[in-house]
Amino acid sequence: MVPNALIETASRPYRAAGRFAWHFASAKLRLDPFFAHLLAHELIPDGARILDLGCGQGLLAAWLVGAHAWHRHDAGRAWPARWPAPPMPRSIHGIDLTPRDVDRARIALQAHESCVRFVCGDIRVAPFPQADVVIACDVLHYVDANAQESILRRVHACLDAGGVLLLRISDAAAGWRASLDRAVDFGVQVARSGRTSGLTVRSEAQWLTLLGDLRFQVTIRPMGHGTHHANRLLIARPAG
Ligand SMILES: C[S@@+](CC[C@H](N)C(=O)[O-])C[C@H]1O[C@@H](n2cnc3c(N)ncnc32)[C@H](O)[C@@H]1O
Repeated sequence: MVPNALIETASRPYRAAGRFAWHFASAKLRLDPFFAHLLAHELIPDGARILDLGCGQGLLAAWLVGAHAWHRHDAGRAWPARWPAPPMPRSIHGIDLTPRDVDRARIALQAHESCVRFVCGDIRVAPFPQADVVIACDVLHYVDANAQESILRRVHACLDAGGVLLLRISDAAAGWRASLDRAVDFGVQVARSGRTSGLTVRSEAQWLTLLGDLRFQVTIRPMGHGTHHANRLLIARPAG
């Protein structure tokens, strides 16, 4: 169970970015198991340089910075007993195509601008800095198959030894839940950015084949129940 106070701490900075940004942050951090999963399973090492592809309004950064601060103040009392201490990243570099989201991210994370940076750009062409962890949460299906492959090649190249790609996808073979994910993602894209381009989805098996062809070694984590049932977290490490 994710403590309410942790969600409130991580979403509070979005108040400065407007009611929508704030409510969206608090709902997404509460309902999407991805964020708690990162902390509970220690998927991000302390001091990591993080590249967040399709960072949206910067929720990952807000979550990590908020968790670190909250743990420091409330560790003895309310931090979930089974979770390790949260990491403090060395840097976070977020890239997103939607200017409004990047503005919200910059406003909310303004106090951390020395280590958190948001670029408004297209991950198909934007330069990737060297990183220890690359996050791509619900983003690669917004680009076509060739772009997916080229982005993953560049991710492989930008990861330092021991680095990891955390790729969250919806398994296109997962029946109605996958169709629901697609409908929601398409709707959100239209509502938030006005873009109506189609989605390029793959089954879990197809993602694994592509990542294997690109010399990633992958382990898979299911990401939740109910409507999140189709979601998978692919933990992909460059094989050399
Ligand atoms: C479903 S949202 C996920 C946002 C974020 N990863 C999260 O989990 O909160 C997908 C994001 O990908 C961004 N996006 C889509 N295509 C992109 C592209 N070619 N380059 C950069 N960002 C892109 C959208 O603007 C949107 O913010």
